Amino acid sequence: MILLTGVTGTVGRLVAERLATAEPVRLLSRDPRRIAALAGPGTEVVGGDFADPVSLAAALTGVRAAFLVTADPLAPAHDEHFVTAARRAGVRHVVKLSARAVAEPDADDLITRRQRDAEDVLRASGVAWTFLRPRAFMSNTLGWARSVRDEGVVRAFHGAAPHATVDPRDIAEVAALALTGAVLPGRAHPLTGPAAISAAQQVAVLSGLLRRPLRLVELTRDQAYEGLLARWPRPVADALLEGAERQGAGAKARVEPAVRTLLGRPARPYRVWARDHLPAFGG
Ligand SMILES: NC(=O)c1ccc[n+]([C@@H]2O[C@H](COP(=O)([O-])OP(=O)(O)OC[C@H]3O[C@@H](n4cnc5c(N)ncnc54)[C@H](OP(=O)(O)O)[C@@H]3O)[C@@H](O)[C@H]2O)c1
Repeated sequence: MILLTGVTGTVGRLVAERLATAEPVRLLSRDPRRIAALAGPGTEVVGGDFADPVSLAAALTGVRAAFLVTADPLAPAHDEHFVTAARRAGVRHVVKLSARAVAEPDADDLITRRQRDAEDVLRASGVAWTFLRPRAFMSNTLGWARSVRDEGVVRAFHGAAPHATVDPRDIAEVAALALTGAVLPGRAHPLTGPAAISAAQQVAVLSGLLRRPLRLVELTRDQAYEGLLARWPRPVADALLEGAERQGAGAKARVEPAVRTLLGRPARPYRVWARDHLPAFGG
């Protein structure tokens, strides 16, 4: 049995789709009604919350491998609760969705520090581990969908800075291989797309696919921060702004070979991700 968390989110949902017919899987959500549609014949659905260790103990019973997606940098106990429950339940392998910046010494924002600490907790637990360390997801550009549809505009900070963003489907494929034992545990995999691409270049790709002109409006630092504060608590907004500044300084441009090596084919480029998600942008 494989337990998947984060299945109502971007990567976990894709992992659930990939494994639905391959292995018996158990899907965890705080609200299991939301995942009924994902559940196939060999799939169990379970309620559980990283804040509630009792629920995790029940969810992990009889589980061989687990996919761990924690997403709240203000709740550091979530990873500890999950890893403790996994160890007690005899789980043999935890595949954790982490972040590329963990391995970059100059990255010291709250989100990266939390992921680093969480990796340490799992590494020290005695449970076999795999860390997936993606660069930013290509799907983050779905945040532009409304202004693209309504105004033909994308607003971005450091719009010319290259960024080796990765298709979440590639992350999910690597996760599925690790969970089914096709990738040996005990390694961290830096996952990027096949090239570094700027927001300006992504806008040009979208414009070409949509066959309509789109305009990139460069945000000032203050405007970017204001936008982040409207969506996130201040400590998270601060961390995201710090990450954006590192991107602006060119720190996120490096392309890694891991997707190609693990999947035996090149990583999907932004053009392919955008083509497959064009309806969201009005295409
Ligand atoms: N976005 C990026 O560019 C990027 C880049 C690198 C790394 N990452 C990392 O990727 C992770 C996020 O992955 P994602 O974007 O696929 O997820 P997501 O779309 O943000 O979804 C979050 C998931 O976490 C679950 N969740 C939240 N709180 C929970 C709780 N208390 N107990 C149990 N489940 C909980 C939610 O499930 P329910 O609501 O159903 O309970 C949901 O399925 C983060 O660790 C982030 O640091 C993201």
